[in-house]
Amino acid sequence: MKILVIGQGGREHALVWKLAQSQIVEKIYCMPGNAGIAQIAEVIPMPDRFADLADWAESENIGLTVVGPEVPLAEGIVDTFNERRLKAFGPDKRAAQLEASKDFAKELMVKNDIPTASHRTFVDAEEAMAYIEDHNTPVFVKANGLAAGKGVIPGRTFKEAVQAVTSILVDRAFGEAGDSVVIEEELIGEEASFTVLTDGTYCLPFVSSQDHKMSHDGDTGKNTGGMGAYSPAPVITPELHDYVMQRVVYPTVNGMAEIGCSFKGVLYVGLMITDAGPKVLEFNCRFGDPEAQVLLPRLKSDLVPLLMACVDGTLAQHADVQWHDDAAACVIMASGGYPDPYQTGEVITGLEDAASIHGVNVFHAGTKQDGDNIVTAGGRVLCVTATADGLHDAIQQAYQGVSAIQFADAHFRNDIGYRALERD
Ligand code: AMP
Ligand code: GLY
Repeated sequence: MKILVIGQGGREHALVWKLAQSQIVEKIYCMPGNAGIAQIAEVIPMPDRFADLADWAESENIGLTVVGPEVPLAEGIVDTFNERRLKAFGPDKRAAQLEASKDFAKELMVKNDIPTASHRTFVDAEEAMAYIEDHNTPVFVKANGLAAGKGVIPGRTFKEAVQAVTSILVDRAFGEAGDSVVIEEELIGEEASFTVLTDGTYCLPFVSSQDHKMSHDGDTGKNTGGMGAYSPAPVITPELHDYVMQRVVYPTVNGMAEIGCSFKGVLYVGLMITDAGPKVLEFNCRFGDPEAQVLLPRLKSDLVPLLMACVDGTLAQHADVQWHDDAAACVIMASGGYPDPYQTGEVITGLEDAASIHGVNVFHAGTKQDGDNIVTAGGRVLCVTATADGLHDAIQQAYQGVSAIQFADAHFRNDIGYRALERD
């Protein structure tokens, strides 16, 4: 079978890497890809229109298209493929609202009694400010739409919360994504990512993981797309796992089906484990990045039949999915300055030395080929991932990989996995 992967980050490199191990895959294409993906798949520029992409997929006889990021899902890429009877993995446009509209997600949670922070949604800035005045800070102020992980602003004080509302609703810092704001109470606890595959009816849980969203050590600095991840996340005990499946995952998937928005694909639940139990921070409609980089190396089973079963509605036949016992850790090497503006075009060296370390895989994110060199081409540049017997060793090996790699102004966190290690 020929497979097309859409996307260009570390998540997509990990997807291509895992899909390439399948016995039933004959060739993988990736649009637009990056320098690392180009070493194991054919990378092709992405056409502007989904219809042109579907034409191409039809002419190339692509058996399955796997959509990595949320934006094309929210824009209806899967709808276009479905209309053409082409198989595409991921939710359609209506179902992708679970990530693309925080208000939609909150309403679904309220309706189905899914534990989450209390909230109100506003389109009017003055009403939003009056609400903040009547409630205690801290609150979290969130642009309703997709804002590349940057649309959530903590309002620790009244002044900060008002500034956040002004920046989203008045100054339009996130454009249309800020047509409305969701204001939420603060949840306190430890975060974890809970990932399931679903065909709209059956839900197949992945092993647990946790990412590190803040740019600097000790969870300080700015919110980023994710500076590292590890799996398993010991905060998710077997009891919490069952609770999340029963109180969050199935009510979400069933609730979506009830309103005619059957959700097929990856349901990624961002959780806060509070003293009162797990509560939902957000839903994503695709694999986490960098969570995918630690989840996929732990998956022993072939990924292709699992993704196909989500599309075909036969996922229940795959309940016996197999996992490696090894733990996995991923350290992101970013361009200096990220998530603020940064330089690109810096030459990267040491990639082969890093990859030769036992258990280490270097997934590329923002990289491109420039003559004989691989150079930086984005904020998050490399995802240095290691699998080993136990988290401690996985983390240590990932950092060995990091120290083998050089590029000017490289920035990475030194404390990936610290919460898990503290539990040892
Ligand atoms: P979100 O994209 O909604 O998951 O928010 C991004 C990050 O902001 C989360 O991973 C949390 O670290 C933080 N966050 C969002 N909402 C809350 C909340 N209600 N209480 C505490 N932290 C939050
Ligand atoms: N790592 C967070 C995300 O993918 O949204």
